[in-house]
Amino acid sequence: MRKLLINKWIKAGVFLICLFPIASLLWRGLHNGLTANPIEFITHATGDWTLRFILVTLCITPLRKLLALPELIRFRRMLGLFAFFYGCLHFTTYIWLDKFFDLKEVWKDIAKRPYITVGFLAFVLLIPLAITSTAGWIRRLGGRQWQLLHRAIYVSAVAGVIHYYWLVKSAVLRPLAYGAIVAVLLLWRLAAMFRSRPDAENMRSMKPQPQKS
Ligand code: HEM
Repeated sequence: MRKLLINKWIKAGVFLICLFPIASLLWRGLHNGLTANPIEFITHATGDWTLRFILVTLCITPLRKLLALPELIRFRRMLGLFAFFYGCLHFTTYIWLDKFFDLKEVWKDIAKRPYITVGFLAFVLLIPLAITSTAGWIRRLGGRQWQLLHRAIYVSAVAGVIHYYWLVKSAVLRPLAYGAIVAVLLLWRLAAMFRSRPDAENMRSMKPQPQKS
């Protein structure tokens, strides 16, 4: 399994799988498959996939640890960037096809409609994460700072779930299911932080103490 995960063709395969949602939208677009309300269909599909990719990205660290497969880290950056890619498509659909680039109207919506405000926050938070996802930026910021910054993905995930929950009128089951997944991932992360703290203290107490003369 570990050998498979470091194979470059597997990574290329995962990349192609991640393109499936956009390929499916293009296919439907070319074959009159975008329903009677294509804008709504595209907005919903891209919003759904943005949230799914955020959740899959968040699953990588717990899975690495639980399955003892550190090689899974090779996929995290790509999955995170796909979350951003679908987020860009979702936002572009909204400002282009829904608002016809009427930025005044877009801004009014962001300020006035809470579900848009929180969706916008979820999207804006992904921007610095996408920009700083390269090895160069990890070096520039330093591992600790970089990790702290990239915890913003949890805030983006929570904001994405609230955005979804607030926009549905009655079908709350799906946003609640996504919310439950985010809650489990957050709890796992908090537990991992508390578990590693005593370890750090142990390490400190194991350091040789200066001898008093
Ligand atoms: C990371 C950021 C975001 C995520 C994860 C996200 C996620 C979602 C999801 C899951 C849906 C519902 C899909 C469905 O019903 O199946 C949705 C719908 C929608 N989103 Fe977002 N979204 C994000 C950002 C934004 C932004 C920035 C805007 C606009 C400023 C926006 C505007 C909308 C609109 C207009 C809808 C359709 C609402 C309706 O049907 O009444 N979203 N989004």
